[in-house]
Amino acid sequence: MLVTVTLLLCVLGGQALDLLKASSGVPPPVPRVHCWCSSFPNVTLCSWPEPSHCPPTHYVATYSERHGQPITEKCLIIPPSHNSSSPTSSSSSSSSSSSSSSQQWHCQLPNLKLLTDYIINITAVHSGGSSSYLSSFMLEDIVKPDPPVDVQVSSQNTRSLQVQWSPPPTWTNLHIFPLKYQIMYQWKNRGIASSVNLGPFESTQVELKGLSPGREYLFQVCAKELLDLGKCSNWSSSVNITLPRTKP
Ligand SMILES: *[C@@H]1O[C@H](CO)[C@@H](O)[C@H](O)[C@H]1NC(C)=O
Ligand SMILES: *[C@@H]1O[C@H](CO)[C@@H](O)[C@H](O)[C@H]1NC(C)=O
Ligand SMILES: *[C@@H]1O[C@H](CO)[C@@H](O)[C@H](O)[C@H]1NC(C)=O
Ligand SMILES: *[C@@H]1O[C@H](CO)[C@@H](O)[C@H](O)[C@H]1NC(C)=O
Ligand SMILES: *[C@@H]1O[C@H](CO)[C@@H](O)[C@H](O)[C@H]1NC(C)=O
Repeated sequence: MLVTVTLLLCVLGGQALDLLKASSGVPPPVPRVHCWCSSFPNVTLCSWPEPSHCPPTHYVATYSERHGQPITEKCLIIPPSHNSSSPTSSSSSSSSSSSSSSQQWHCQLPNLKLLTDYIINITAVHSGGSSSYLSSFMLEDIVKPDPPVDVQVSSQNTRSLQVQWSPPPTWTNLHIFPLKYQIMYQWKNRGIASSVNLGPFESTQVELKGLSPGREYLFQVCAKELLDLGKCSNWSSSVNITLPRTKP
């Protein structure tokens, strides 16, 4: 019952909400945390969405080695930037729970050791109580670069084209930890969508042949650590090209 009341109150908003929630003693929801290493080995972040329509919540984020000395370190918290154009506070309910990046909390874990189990504890605290997210990870398993940038596609003739891109600029140790790349391209033929995955490639450009004249293709690229640590990045935003029907 309390949960229903809380949800209702969360939607109503305002100050009465704080008082009521505090007296009802309903703790905040457990934060939905996601952690990844965007530049191996020294840039690791966790993020979680700001819960919509709830009383002011703050977070305590700590981490420690699972098997080491019981020393907890602070994860450096970066609150969501509220400078975006979307008016979050004025619109009362509906779709604003879809977590845009401006409503994400982040925290940074500096100087993690290699091949070490860590436990992270992200605790949401507000007047009604607190709830902790606990998880363990090893740096090597959570590697996920940012997507490649500057994807460019140019047609060479009616059947072939060249795709090129640049590594994610946030991956700062490229010479020590090189990346490899995968390409996905998609097209439609009489309404039926098809796609092809290619790679991995260690270079940042590829020539593709045997394509169909006059067809529109959509290209995306992802980046992965060369020795297969972790996952491929998100796909880059798509770039489309229509091959010429006849020789230029
Ligand atoms: C990570 O290492 C690279 C190169 O060693 C350095 O340029 C960068 O500033 C470091 N980043 C952080 C957050 O320490
Ligand atoms: C909002 O913040 C982001 C990064 O925090 C920044 O890139 C952007 O320019 C800011 N926008 C405005 C309108 O200040
Ligand atoms: C997680 O952190 C909170 C806040 O610091 C603390 O109260 C709680 O005991 C911690 N949980 C564990 C399992 O360490
Ligand atoms: C990757 O995509 C997911 C889902 O679209 C999104 O939530 C996340 O912020 C993206 N990560 C990066 C690093 O762009
Ligand atoms: C491809 O690009 C053109 C022009 O930029 C755009 O009008 C079209 O909607 C795009 N096609 C797809 C499938 O995104």
